[in-house]
Amino acid sequence: MWIFGWKGPSGFSARSTAEEVTEGIDATGLTAIVTGATSGIGVDTTRVLALRGAHVVMAVRNVEAGKKLKESILNEIPSAKIDVMQLELSSMASVRKFASEYIASCLPLNILINNAGIMAPPFSLSPDGIELQFATNHVGHFLLTHLLLDTMKKTASESNREGRIVIVSSDGHKFAYNEGIRFDKINNEAEYNCYRAYGQSKAANILHAKELARRLKEEGVNITANSLHPGEIATNLGRNNGLLNAISSGIKYLLKTSSQGAATQLYMALIPNDRTWIRVLSIIEGLGIKNRIRDLRLGLGEEEQNKNRPKLWIWDEEKLGDTGSLEFGRIIL
Ligand SMILES: NC(=O)c1ccc[n+]([C@@H]2O[C@H](COP(=O)([O-])OP(=O)(O)OC[C@H]3O[C@@H](n4cnc5c(N)ncnc54)[C@H](OP(=O)(O)O)[C@@H]3O)[C@@H](O)[C@H]2O)c1
Repeated sequence: MWIFGWKGPSGFSARSTAEEVTEGIDATGLTAIVTGATSGIGVDTTRVLALRGAHVVMAVRNVEAGKKLKESILNEIPSAKIDVMQLELSSMASVRKFASEYIASCLPLNILINNAGIMAPPFSLSPDGIELQFATNHVGHFLLTHLLLDTMKKTASESNREGRIVIVSSDGHKFAYNEGIRFDKINNEAEYNCYRAYGQSKAANILHAKELARRLKEEGVNITANSLHPGEIATNLGRNNGLLNAISSGIKYLLKTSSQGAATQLYMALIPNDRTWIRVLSIIEGLGIKNRIRDLRLGLGEEEQNKNRPKLWIWDEEKLGDTGSLEFGRIIL
């Protein structure tokens, strides 16, 4: 519970800020991409990565807003190394353009933080004809990661430093449709529910991280992939939904600040892997893409859990006791 600031095994609590969880970490020599760096927790993720010495590429759809933020970070941290590049995640052409320009720049890539997201807008289709939340939150990031993976592998091998892929999900994955991801109904407007579709896209984030982590491990590549829930944070995420916007504005003083919200993903991106805590984080790695999302829900009845136990829970119970699973942002960290 963030209000009480209970500390988890990491020694931090949900109240801990981005600065606190990264204190003493030297990220000099690391290059990171942060998507959605123009608002909310993406801003603090960028700022604190730069503060710790990383070269940060802000991957943003609004380049002007990105440049303004870069200037304000430079005012605060004159040594910050920041670039701004355009990325519209809902357009696969834009994702491909971003990736090819990044690869052409010959920059290394140690850390990829798939942070951008939208929540609960009215139904619409992306330029490629995919329901907008699924396209933005999952498909765009999936393609981006895929296209940048060789660069990350090369960097990890040449630098001998573990690459980190951090995929920002949400506790909202629990609101996914009952059958999990509706592979055959992604674009079904008649049955669209904006909250369930958000949950579906966030569940896809988790499955992406899980399957990616499994593949990287199998390949023996020095890169980890993790997914997380950052907590409930006062940001602009509700902007596409009048009700959500009103609720989050009304309770904003009860929510985490964006620096507290950025803490979990920065921890995952920067914490040295010789610390025990990273092994705790890796419990998020264990679910194969074929498992139904329903299995990930924390509120399943005993019988259903026993019948259909996901690898995540089995791993959790057998290796880690009752540490909790998808609650990192809010409870443990
Ligand atoms: N806030 C919370 O309580 C909460 C809880 C759980 C999970 N999360 C997750 O945290 C992540 C960050 O959200 P936030 O709360 O910081 O929200 P936010 O303040 O709305 O920031 C979202 C960022 O994503 C960018 N973005 C949206 N659509 C994009 C697109 N099509 N292409 C490129 N960039 C796009 C936005 O760009 P513009 O500035 O141009 O719009 C913005 O920079 C999301 O993945 C969200 O699901 C947040």
